Amino acid sequence: MNVFEPMSLKKMKIANRVGVAPMCTYMCLRKDGVAQDFHLAHYTTFAMGQPGLIIQEATSVNESGYISDYCLGIHQPRQREALKRVVDSVHAYPVKFGIQLNHAGAKSNKSGCRKISASSLIEGVEEASLADIQKVISDFESAAKWARQLGYDFVEVHSAHGYLLNQFLSPLTNHRTDAYGQDKGLLLQQVVEAVLKEFDGPVFVRLSGEEYADDGRHIEDTLETVKRLDRLGVSLINMSSGGVSPVAMNVFPMYQVNLATQAKSVTALPLATAGLITQREQIADIIDSGKADVVLLGRLLTRDPFFLMKWRFDLGLISKENTPNYLFRSLSAMK
Ligand SMILES: Cc1cc2nc3c(=O)[nH]c(=O)nc-3n(C[C@H](O)[C@H](O)[C@H](O)COP(=O)(O)O)c2cc1C
Repeated sequence: MNVFEPMSLKKMKIANRVGVAPMCTYMCLRKDGVAQDFHLAHYTTFAMGQPGLIIQEATSVNESGYISDYCLGIHQPRQREALKRVVDSVHAYPVKFGIQLNHAGAKSNKSGCRKISASSLIEGVEEASLADIQKVISDFESAAKWARQLGYDFVEVHSAHGYLLNQFLSPLTNHRTDAYGQDKGLLLQQVVEAVLKEFDGPVFVRLSGEEYADDGRHIEDTLETVKRLDRLGVSLINMSSGGVSPVAMNVFPMYQVNLATQAKSVTALPLATAGLITQREQIADIIDSGKADVVLLGRLLTRDPFFLMKWRFDLGLISKENTPNYLFRSLSAMK
């Protein structure tokens, strides 16, 4: 079984093929985008469970990119000071830690903030001007520079789930006639180029492979985007789905795996998959049969951060010598 075999992404080595999916916690209770003790404890707990990697929740690159009043930001000095503590705490464990950089665009829900998108299709949302677009690119670039300075091992550009970069990619939300409408992948390309310029470690991109709407993007369109990102030099595609269209998604165990598998037919880049994956056998099958290269677990690890530890213990990969006493005694008690 290859799940617990190490793997290299650029120069970054991950100890196993399972990661923590990015998940907003909505726990900046002071509405200032500053990580609290909660975030330190939350991400450190994930790290103690020793996944190969952890992707920090969507973190806003500027004042208008927040998904909610309670989300994290990286654009202010106080926010970076607090994130540094989280990064250092996670790094006490053999885990690679990345940050998901996001601009929520029309889905920005911070009180009083300006909402921009590719087009103005909803009341209260403005079509981004060329100056707005330049600012978005430069805010992603600054965020990538700060992420490097803070010690994150990798960065993920969030271009899925109907947020700003996805709004530019999608024909459902991008009705522009300028260069950013004629080439709907142009903004994503320019953001990725800017991030790659500032961040010399692995850069991941999360995409929605399927929008589940007739007039939306389908996997064939996503495969073209994957090829383009491959040429730009990203290190991993994190394949998700949905978010732009209000169409109800039909979700079932492993429902997104086949989107990642299809992408593997057009690129040699590693593919990550997530979505209702909850069983050891499912994870082992996805990795061993090459359906995807990395499995991200979200809600399962939230309710059971030691899921992987327990699995490794059962496989005999954990010994008294390589594990803190309190943890070894707890794992042994399962028997
Ligand atoms: C509470 C919650 C918050 C989420 N926040 C994010 C996020 O910040 N960024 C992102 O790309 N996906 C986000 N997601 C989606 C997850 O990354 C993941 O794809 C999804 O939960 C499916 O995986 P699971 O079934 O293992 O939980 C979120 C999901 C949940 C449940």
